[in-house]
Amino acid sequence: MSRPLAVVVLAAGLGTRTKVSVPKVLLPLCGRTLLATVLDTVAELRADRTVVVLHHGKERIEETLADRDGLAIVDQGEPRGTGHAVQVAMEALADFDGDVMIVYGDVPLMTADTLQALRDARGSAGASVLTAYPDDPTGLGRILRGSEGEMLGIREERDCSDAERTIDEINAGFYCYDAAGLRPLLAGLSDDNAQGELYLTDTVFALLDDGQAVVTVAADDPEDVTGINDLRQLSLATQIMRERILLEHLGNGVIIDDPASTYIDHGVTIGRDTRVLPCTVIHSGVVIGEHCEVGPFSHLRVGTKLENRAEVGNFVETKKAHIGEGTKAKHLTYLGDAVLGSDANIGCGTITANYDGKHKHQTTIGDGAFVGSGTVLVAPMTMGPGSSTGAGAIVTRGTSIGEGETYVGVPAKPLRARAATDGGDK
Ligand code: UD1
Ligand code: CA
Repeated sequence: MSRPLAVVVLAAGLGTRTKVSVPKVLLPLCGRTLLATVLDTVAELRADRTVVVLHHGKERIEETLADRDGLAIVDQGEPRGTGHAVQVAMEALADFDGDVMIVYGDVPLMTADTLQALRDARGSAGASVLTAYPDDPTGLGRILRGSEGEMLGIREERDCSDAERTIDEINAGFYCYDAAGLRPLLAGLSDDNAQGELYLTDTVFALLDDGQAVVTVAADDPEDVTGINDLRQLSLATQIMRERILLEHLGNGVIIDDPASTYIDHGVTIGRDTRVLPCTVIHSGVVIGEHCEVGPFSHLRVGTKLENRAEVGNFVETKKAHIGEGTKAKHLTYLGDAVLGSDANIGCGTITANYDGKHKHQTTIGDGAFVGSGTVLVAPMTMGPGSSTGAGAIVTRGTSIGEGETYVGVPAKPLRARAATDGGDK
C-alpha cells in the first residue's frame, strides 16, 4: 500500500516584484491563474490532503478557488518566510502521517511526472529536493555540494559568498518529506539570515547535521522550474506554456498554419483535421470538432462550441455560441449567446445584439438558415429552419421568424407583408 500524501502549496507572499496590484498567484497563464495551474498539476498526484497557504490577497484568491473540492486553506498571517509558511500548514496537518510534498505557488510550469519522481526518490532519506541548472540562476537558492558531489545544503543567493554565487545548480522550490520527520525540523528553524526569515531550505542543513540523507532530483528541463517573480518571467513562462499547448494539438492532428501567431489557452478541445489559420485566439473551455476551419483572425471565447465541419473566418468573435455542423460564419461577425443549427450560413457583418445594457439574451438560428450580410439580430429572437434575412435587416427583439420565412428591412418584416405595404410585387 502506498503511503498517504499531503501537498502543501505556498502562496502567501506579496509578490512586490510584479509591480501590479493583482496578487501574484492570480496572474494569468494561458487561461488559468498561476495558482490554478499549480493546483491542476498537484491534482494529478491524487493527494489525500492539499493545503494552500495564503495571506496577502487571501480573499481574492479564495474566491478563485471556490469550485475546487477538498482544499484546506490556511492563513499564514504576516509571512515570515517559506519555513514559517510550512509551520502554519503543518498545524492543519497535525493528524497527518505520510509523505508531505511542498510546492511553491509561483512555479507553474512543473509537471506531475517530475513531482512523482521527486516523491519516489525520497525512499528512506529525510527529504528529497528538486534541483535544476537554469541558464540564469540569478536570485535563486544555490545547491551546495562537497568534493564527492554530496549534498551539503541550500544557500539563498543573498546569503552566498561570491564563490557560492557562481554555482549553477539551484533549488527549484519542491520538496518531499516524511511528516513526522518534518515537524521537529520546522520547530528548529531560525531567522538568522540576510532576509530575517524562516527559510524552509534550512531544514536540509538540519537533516544532514542529524546524519540523515537528503537526495536530489534534477529536473529534466530547467524550463519546468521557472519561478515567476516579475512580469518578464511571466511572459517567458507564457511563451513556454503556449508552445506546450500548441505542440499537444499538433500531436493530435490539428493543423496549425502559424504557431507563432496562434494563441490557444489551456483546456481547449480541438478535433483532428481541423485547421487553425494565423492570428487566432481561442480561450479556455472552447470545444471544436473535426474538419473545422478557424481563422485567420478569429476570436473564440468562453462557451463556444463548434460542431464538425463548422467554419469561422476573419474578424469573427464568438462567446457562448454553439455552432452546428457545417455552419459557416466567415467574415466580420459577432455571435454571442447563440445557438446555431447545422448548415446555416451567417453572412458577412452579422451581429447578434445579445446585450440590452442590463441582461444578456439568446439568439437561436435554425438548420439551414441564411442570414443576409449586415443583419443585426436583436436578442431574444429566433430564426426557424431554412429561414432567411435580407442584407441589412434589423430584426427586432422578440421576433420569431418562422420556418422558411424571409425577413427584410429596418425594422425587419416578413418579405410578403412588406411587399404588400410597398404596393406588392406584381
Ligand atoms: C525560494 C527558495 C529558493 C528557491 C526559489 C525557487 C526559500 C528560502 N528559498 O526563494 O531557494 O531557489 O524559491 O523559486 O525557500 N511564500 C509564502 N510565505 C512566506 C514566504 C513565501 O507562502 O512567508 C510563498 C510565496 O508566495 C511563493 C513561494 O513561497 O509562492 C516562494 O517564496 P519566494 O519569496 O518567492 O521565495 P524565493 O525568494 O523565490
Ligand atoms: Ca519565488
